[in-house]
Amino acid sequence: MNQIRKAVFPVAGLGSRFLPATKAQPKEMLPIVDKPLIQYAVEEAVAAGITDLVFITGRNKRAIEDHFDKAFELEAELEAHNKQALLEVVRNVIPKNVNCIYIRQPAPLGLGHAVLCARPIVGNEPFAVLLADDFMDTADGVAPVLAQMTQQYEFERASLLAVQDVPRENTRQYGIVSASPYRDRLELAAGIVEKPAPDKAPSTLAVVGRYVLSARIFEFLEQLGTGAGGEIQLTDGIAALLKHERVLAYRYDGQRYDCGSKLGYLKAMVAMGLKHPETGPDFAAYVAGVQAGGGK
Ligand code: G1P
Repeated sequence: MNQIRKAVFPVAGLGSRFLPATKAQPKEMLPIVDKPLIQYAVEEAVAAGITDLVFITGRNKRAIEDHFDKAFELEAELEAHNKQALLEVVRNVIPKNVNCIYIRQPAPLGLGHAVLCARPIVGNEPFAVLLADDFMDTADGVAPVLAQMTQQYEFERASLLAVQDVPRENTRQYGIVSASPYRDRLELAAGIVEKPAPDKAPSTLAVVGRYVLSARIFEFLEQLGTGAGGEIQLTDGIAALLKHERVLAYRYDGQRYDCGSKLGYLKAMVAMGLKHPETGPDFAAYVAGVQAGGGK
């Protein structure tokens, strides 16, 4: 049986790197072609067998709740005009058996604090965390990244961090893991530090926004209090957890786009534009034209 039923989506961040686009709408609602980032993350969770989605929201995030809710007026309009295909798109944003739970994070006290806000709902179960601005794409026939991790969990029964190697000059953007070889694609984490300088980083193995965590993380997050920058870091909670329980770093099979940055977002848009059944062929021709110096 799949033991991971709940996923936490910290979505309270301000999205200041995308201003003015994010002045009045959440950064998680920025689309990749025709779907908002948060919907891709939710679909990845659902594909991993998750049934309870816990969104940690903040001010200005109403659009996320509306997106996963019924849209009465829109559905009535589409129905009146007999637009069945669009009606299906709107109605199938989320499967019927999936619950959405919203918790407001009262102040931006960090990722660790956001995860801690989910404790009353998650309780004593292992759970997933997905950061929607890390957009994860996988090749055809490969399981989505969170599903890869929950499969590993079934076997290992240990917390898992999705990791990838990054250039040493970029360690300041990530939680960096020190680890030893364990099994195919897995390493045993011995330590983790948040955003170390390149010359201080224990390795170049960086955590990206997918986690499967033991509920024991809550104990450590609670004890942490505010750390550097007045924030409670998830990384610091994991650093404490791995002293008591096995934490594994998982080298996922897939391509990650950092959609918290403009360049990463543009790359994701191109990758998905090329794959999209509606735009794929025409967009491929256009991109080939741009590369050849034309660009019509
Ligand atoms: C967060 C985490 C960091 C992790 C990163 C992945 O940082 O704090 O440990 O490596 O997500 O995207 P942020 O990107 O929110 O600054």
